[in-house]
Amino acid sequence: MPSNPQILLASRPRGAATVENFRLVVGDTPPLEDGQVLVRHHYLSLDPYMRGRMNEGKSYAASQPLGEVMMGGTVGEVLESRNPRYAPGDKVVGMGGWQEYAVVDANAPGALRKVDGSQVPLSYYLGAVGMPGVTAWYGLTQIIAPRAGETVTVSAATGAVGSAFVALAKARGCRVVGIAGGPEKCRYATEALGFDACIDHRQHGDVKSMSRALKEACPDGIDGHFENVGGTILDAVLLRANAFSRVALCGMIAGYDGAPLPLQNPALMLINRMRVQGFIVSEHMQLWPQALQELAGLVVAGQLHPRESIAQGLASAPAAFIGLLHGQNFGKQLVKLI
Ligand SMILES: NC(=O)c1ccc[n+]([C@@H]2O[C@H](COP(=O)([O-])OP(=O)(O)OC[C@H]3O[C@@H](n4cnc5c(N)ncnc54)[C@H](OP(=O)(O)O)[C@@H]3O)[C@@H](O)[C@H]2O)c1
Repeated sequence: MPSNPQILLASRPRGAATVENFRLVVGDTPPLEDGQVLVRHHYLSLDPYMRGRMNEGKSYAASQPLGEVMMGGTVGEVLESRNPRYAPGDKVVGMGGWQEYAVVDANAPGALRKVDGSQVPLSYYLGAVGMPGVTAWYGLTQIIAPRAGETVTVSAATGAVGSAFVALAKARGCRVVGIAGGPEKCRYATEALGFDACIDHRQHGDVKSMSRALKEACPDGIDGHFENVGGTILDAVLLRANAFSRVALCGMIAGYDGAPLPLQNPALMLINRMRVQGFIVSEHMQLWPQALQELAGLVVAGQLHPRESIAQGLASAPAAFIGLLHGQNFGKQLVKLI
């Protein structure tokens, strides 16, 4: 069995996470038992939720134990199998963690899912046709539920979730306005991703300026907002929200390192009779097949062509992850392991 480079959580962050919170070790892969398969990971997914798991304390999910392999989504190939449902060569998605190989009990519910790499590139199963894509689908269709012609907005617009959101919202006939960091991301949002307009939050760093930019980009106000960041952006969106508008609270990445994100004027939610709803995509597994089918269809039809930021080799994962938390990724952040 091959030796297995792995990244462990070495310590919990105090404030901002750093590369020193992680440790690279080389472990063993144990011999397979009945029901198990050996998977060689091709890509590791880096996702903002991992920052929350590095903390101790009450949350919607258990925290990452210290000294253990960092949890994370992976896509790869079965190398050996002692499970009749899997054969060497099968391509599979799972939660293999920050390591090159995983021995997986393939009978455990949800442990592995076979995927077809012939129409959709394997890496997309960690992004547009995976958890981030389903996240965009859930917030858009189940919370914002837009009618054609409505205006919807999304922050972290060029990221894994944001780029799926725009494709799904355009397919429903919406005007879609993105908010992203920097002129290059904003140009890409309108020229390649199909946004009708994109606002640079670095250029509009305070609520007044962001609110003015939103007014210009959304002349009919905002009917639905998909929040990935929080803070100034959410305050400004509330100022431009229409009566009976909906906000899907997906992420608050601006506060993941511990900074409080107070709302300036929560009364606007009452005045505008808004629906503001948080959600966790993994609590809605029954909807994933429907969402994945639509997302794969958009990719095959050329209507969803997400960009990827690919770091090379397992050792690069900690720095790439810290970069993701600071907006240095441009599209879905992955680590290529093979
Ligand atoms: N609720 C759920 O079930 C669920 C599931 C998946 C993801 N999420 C959330 O969805 C959001 C997007 O995830 P993703 O995987 O698609 O990540 P992503 O958008 O690919 O990457 C994160 C982006 O967040 C932006 N960002 C980071 N810090 C920021 C700050 N202080 N102010 C403004 N923008 C900042 C950066 O984009 P810019 O440079 O453009 O600002 C960065 O590129 C995250 O908040 C994540 O936690 C939630």
